Amino acid sequence: MTGQVIAVASGKGGVGKTWFAITLAHALAQLGRRAVLLDADLGLANADVQLGLAPARDLGAVIAGRATAEEALVAHPAGFYVLPGRSGSGALAELGAAEMQAVLALPAQLAGSFQHVVLDIGAGIGPAQRRLLAASDLPLVLATEEPTSLTDAYAVLKLLAQDAPQAAPRLVVNMAAGPAAARRVHGALEAATRRFLGRGLDLAGLVRRDAKVPEAIRAQTPLLTRHPTCAAAADVAAIARSVAP
Ligand SMILES: Nc1ncnc2c1ncn2[C@@H]1O[C@H](COP(=O)(O)OP(=O)(O)OP(=O)(O)O)[C@@H](O)[C@H]1O
Ligand SMILES: [Mg+2]
Repeated sequence: MTGQVIAVASGKGGVGKTWFAITLAHALAQLGRRAVLLDADLGLANADVQLGLAPARDLGAVIAGRATAEEALVAHPAGFYVLPGRSGSGALAELGAAEMQAVLALPAQLAGSFQHVVLDIGAGIGPAQRRLLAASDLPLVLATEEPTSLTDAYAVLKLLAQDAPQAAPRLVVNMAAGPAAARRVHGALEAATRRFLGRGLDLAGLVRRDAKVPEAIRAQTPLLTRHPTCAAAADVAAIARSVAP
């Protein structure tokens, strides 16, 4: 089996990548898929914190060869798996060549036993992030209505067009006031990609701004468990249905 690798990127920090990646993995699991979240935010991994996990092993241990990926996997009670990224040493940000290779090999390795591998690649767009994004089957670029988020999302799309000209990234507009606002964000970004990169940009969907999201994060409980019918939950579920082939 070769599963689908979905990479979640944004350039800008704090737009909801970690929360969205977790919730997408959860929504895919609710569709009956075997889904894993790989916390590949090499700088400030924190998916485990959002979920209230205290993992015994993490990506740092896998990279250092102290654990296999299978040993580091955590089965969340909600039905999806997590490979936590938090490293006690904080050394993940400065990877040597061998460690970088170990990180880059992980998505494909996990895709051998999962139908969907969702990567949180963190903020910024350094060499490891570019390669993870370019090697994914589905690059999802997250943006909000903020102008700084749009320019950073465009920067990610531009680098991706260089690194993987065949890639077909899709946009997720997060914290949207509603469909009209999401269409504006999509329209602005697509106009830029058409004009300067010579390609369109599909909209994977929007996720509405919803006070239930920070509330669930504070409770360290997945949104789809805590508030299964709220607006943001319905929006992520719709995106999961549209990305699951
Ligand atoms: N749809 C939404 N509605 C309301 N709040 C949201 C929504 N999505 C995310 N948030 C809030 O945005 C904040 C940042 O989320 P998150 O940590 O997932 O972002 P991030 O992009 O991973 O950040 P970083 O770049 O620092 O890793 C959280 O407090 C979360 O509650
Ligand atoms: Mg994050």
